[in-house]
Amino acid sequence: MKQRILWLASLLLVACSSNTTATPDAASTDTGADTDVAVAVTDPLSMPAVPTLKSDSFPSATTCKDCHAQQFAEWNGSRHAYAAKDPVWEVLVGLRQKAENGLQDRFCTQCHSILGVRSGEIKPDFKFADLSPTVMEGVTCAACHLSDSVARTHNAGLTFAADGKMRGNLADSQTTTAHGSVAGPHLAADNFCPSCHDVIEINGLPLERPYEEWLDSPGTTKQLCQDCHMAKYDGQAATGGPQRKGLHSHRFIGLDPPGAATGSDPTMQAIFAADRDQLLASAAKVTLGSGALAAGQTLDVTVNIENLIKGHSLPTGTTFLRQCWLEVVATDDAGKVLYETGTLDANGDLRDRWSDLKPYDDHDLVSLSSSLIDAQGNPTLFPWLAVEHKRGALRSGESRTWTFFVPVPADAKGSVHLTARLRLRSFPPFLFRFAGAAALIPTIVVYDLAKDATQVTLP
Ligand code: HEC
Ligand code: HEC
Ligand code: HEC
Ligand code: HEC
Ligand code: HEC
Repeated sequence: MKQRILWLASLLLVACSSNTTATPDAASTDTGADTDVAVAVTDPLSMPAVPTLKSDSFPSATTCKDCHAQQFAEWNGSRHAYAAKDPVWEVLVGLRQKAENGLQDRFCTQCHSILGVRSGEIKPDFKFADLSPTVMEGVTCAACHLSDSVARTHNAGLTFAADGKMRGNLADSQTTTAHGSVAGPHLAADNFCPSCHDVIEINGLPLERPYEEWLDSPGTTKQLCQDCHMAKYDGQAATGGPQRKGLHSHRFIGLDPPGAATGSDPTMQAIFAADRDQLLASAAKVTLGSGALAAGQTLDVTVNIENLIKGHSLPTGTTFLRQCWLEVVATDDAGKVLYETGTLDANGDLRDRWSDLKPYDDHDLVSLSSSLIDAQGNPTLFPWLAVEHKRGALRSGESRTWTFFVPVPADAKGSVHLTARLRLRSFPPFLFRFAGAAALIPTIVVYDLAKDATQVTLP
């Protein structure tokens, strides 16, 4: 364990910024002893050296609350409201800040707090404690509704209007003294969400790419990100406004629970949980099959997994942090385990190379997650050290079959009972231990996306 921490620490220290496409940064001269010698990473659109937005040009979500109570309550419980407060994110940003002397501080923040970076509040060597509440709102209302076009489909590719008018697509939007309203067709386009959801590392390595996967999905009638992650409902877009059809939920349901710091209302928690269960239940199908059973021989068991998501791979997003894997267990009539793969060690970790207790113990493990590989060919948890991204995800509509061999004892009687589950969780426990955030381990939830069970009886 100790050895592994040292190894991780040394990986962090050798973090190299030589392949950074950086230009001299005016903002870095006043931030510390050596930042004016070294060069901070910039990008003319998403990490500008000179601020492109004024801090007072984007309002806080709290100013929308009185008139857009529903959107506010939903957004407030969503991951978007949590994007700059997420403790796991803050820990990882802190590690990279240390490893790169703050020079890459705008990289991890350019999407998670897009307005904070554009306004210059987030600059090399920033401290979370110094940020204003509006910047800490992360992907706040204005981050979407003040945007006026999609300039590129990755790395915070949105442009922003300076006129303060809210972009939306309501027909005959009512006028309000609070803000001007103007048509925002880009919000309804297929490439709007990908402007932040496709993530490319500084060295050009694609980390997250749901839009690439979406473009790659079969079918001409495939749905948009908005269709599946912003369910439609009928109601009012603003207090006192007309009844409208086809409004958009702002809960942005995914795998993660509502941000704990913000989504504490029990009614809202229940709505989020029901939505999440429904979303996850639509993701995959698992089908078990088997050959003939004979005592003293091997039972061939097949498991087929089909990705039912008409929009992206399974899993998608931060697949190098998520764990998505297949568990297969075979037992006899007395419940004795004859075979298992994808089960956890006493720490709750998979029995793969990262396990402290049973490393390399699960030879048949089927994982759909991805791994980042460093320049030495070793797996790394840190995107900034990676030169290769190996993916295990199933493409949209893809179905794949694996075969497992269950040893059947010579004195076997009765039946062999088989179960297969496709499981998904946001993070593995070992990641939190390594990051010094063991206190977060109890918050990890494992979801079963799909399962199947069968039994085979001896002739
Ligand atoms: C991640 C981007 C995003 C964030 C953050 C966001 N919205 Fe939206 N909002 C949208 C999209 C997309 C639509 C639908 C646009 C369309 O297709 O017509 C929408 C629609 C709306 C509408 C029109 C009614 C409807 O449901 O179609 C209102 C009003 C609105 N949002 C207010 C807010 C408020 C207030 C907040 C913050 C509390 C907020 N939004 C945060 C993306 C966002
Ligand atoms: C004083 C009340 C009030 C406040 C405060 C307010 N709005 Fe609105 N907003 C409205 C009304 C009224 C509409 C029109 C509703 C309709 O026509 O159904 C509207 C419409 C919108 C639309 C849709 C525009 C379109 O043309 O499609 C968006 C987006 C929006 N508001 C975002 C926001 C955001 C973000 C905030 C906070 C920064 C905010 N609003 C604050 C009253 C308000
Ligand atoms: C046909 C419905 C559908 C469409 C279209 C769709 N998604 Fe998803 N999405 C899902 C389902 C189901 C899951 C849960 C399974 C998973 O996590 O992969 C999911 C999960 C996610 C997650 C959480 C992934 C994780 O494990 O952390 C993100 C982020 C996401 N989608 C973004 C997008 C984006 C961006 C688009 C548009 C390019 C999109 N989705 C289009 C159905 C859809
Ligand atoms: C300004 C950047 C930005 C835009 C635009 C954006 N997102 Fe996100 N989104 C994020 C970030 C950052 C997170 C991760 C927040 C966290 O958990 O720390 C996220 C999280 C999510 C999640 C939760 C994933 C999970 O694992 O639970 C969903 C679902 C999602 N976004 C859907 C959308 C959809 C749909 C749109 C388009 C309407 C959209 N996003 C537009 C930045 C953005
Ligand atoms: C191009 C925009 C973008 C950049 C740059 C970016 N992220 Fe994200 N991040 C996202 C989106 C979108 C999600 C949600 C995807 C999902 O849930 O699978 C996310 C999710 C995450 C999550 C999962 C949140 C949770 O608690 O479940 C972590 C952790 C994270 N990012 C860390 C980082 C770090 C560290 C960096 C810098 C190396 C970074 N991000 C850079 C857009 C970005």
